[in-house]
Amino acid sequence: MSLHDDFKPVIAVLTMHDDQRMFRGNHQNFQDIIQTGESMGYVVYIVTVRDLNVAGSTVKGYIYNKGSGKWTSQSFPLPHVLYNRIPNREDERKPSVQRKIAECMESGIELYNPFFFNKWNLFEWLKKSKSTQNLIPYTRRMRSASALATVLKSYPYLYLKPESGKAGKGIMMLKFQEKDRLPYRLKVQSSRKSTTYKTATLAKLWARIRRETGHTPYIMQQGIELASSRKRPFDLRVLVQKNSKGQWSVTGVGARLAGSRSITTHVPRGGSVEDPEKLLTELFGEELSNTLMKRVKSTSLMIARQVERGSGHTLGEMSMDLGVDDLGEIWFFEANAKPMKFDEPQIRRRSLERIFHYSAYLARQSKR
Ligand SMILES: Nc1ncnc2c1ncn2[C@@H]1O[C@H](COP(=O)(O)OP(=O)(O)O)[C@@H](O)[C@H]1O
Ligand SMILES: [Mg+2]
Repeated sequence: MSLHDDFKPVIAVLTMHDDQRMFRGNHQNFQDIIQTGESMGYVVYIVTVRDLNVAGSTVKGYIYNKGSGKWTSQSFPLPHVLYNRIPNREDERKPSVQRKIAECMESGIELYNPFFFNKWNLFEWLKKSKSTQNLIPYTRRMRSASALATVLKSYPYLYLKPESGKAGKGIMMLKFQEKDRLPYRLKVQSSRKSTTYKTATLAKLWARIRRETGHTPYIMQQGIELASSRKRPFDLRVLVQKNSKGQWSVTGVGARLAGSRSITTHVPRGGSVEDPEKLLTELFGEELSNTLMKRVKSTSLMIARQVERGSGHTLGEMSMDLGVDDLGEIWFFEANAKPMKFDEPQIRRRSLERIFHYSAYLARQSKR
């Protein structure tokens, strides 16, 4: 072990100022990050874009005081690593925010998690590599009724999703059954349940879809018949993070079983947290399930590498939603650049520790 390996950088978690709550984002998550970092011997604090000034010698940061149960602000040294957790796209897109991030990078601060992903870009990046192109469902941008009709001819089962969506918001499922009196069947996801709309004509269908989408950009995607348990489809949530050597590594794999009346597997929409090995064994038997879990992990690493290559930036972590169909084939649905908290305690703990392992690596790299 060299001296370098013991170097403990200062880490700031970047978010937005908020008049009511001091700063935006998931405060519980931030608390866990700070507590983990402190217990590992790091100086770590929350900083808002507004307070971060690279020209200054110190910066105002927030830390959580466990005793009082309160957040307090104090003065900190400038960070070596900036862990970007700006919680929404609208804020992150602002020119003032982009300028601030650019200034930090120019001054030599390492940026961990440069930006949110867009669903369409992800598919474009993954299409480009032989190692990942067979994992992605057929996907097109949804620009017109005629484009939708063309895709429906080859794929009569589709998912319609906002390019910048999250947590199942705005997702629709569309089926075309030619022999039915009302051949178009559209399911629209509301908070916990979904509402079905049936119609005979493409024009009416399109009008209904437009009512949902407004001018928000959408993709249309081949629907995958997910493997299911107790008649409920499930998918896998994989957390991939870089480790202390700067290499992509699988932190954990979880499973989410859809709520009975939902078209997605999100927990706030009635979905439940499950053990992936148990679900896969139930369906495919022990041997195939073991093989599948290994394949899920190696596949996730290939996806992470390709997403990073495609994005043109250094990335540090991402979570991904993968489907498994009845034949045991793996499908990619999306990746999130700023992963939400995993409910599984073991994955959660490791995910927090890895933030610091990789930050230390980043800082060592930049010192050289
Ligand atoms: N093409 C598809 N076929 C089958 N199920 C899908 C498809 N796309 C999404 N889903 C289901 O919907 C969920 C949410 O989709 P996702 O792309 O992750 O959007 P969000 O950003 O809202 O989480 C997935 O986890 C999966 O359960
Ligand atoms: Mg998702």
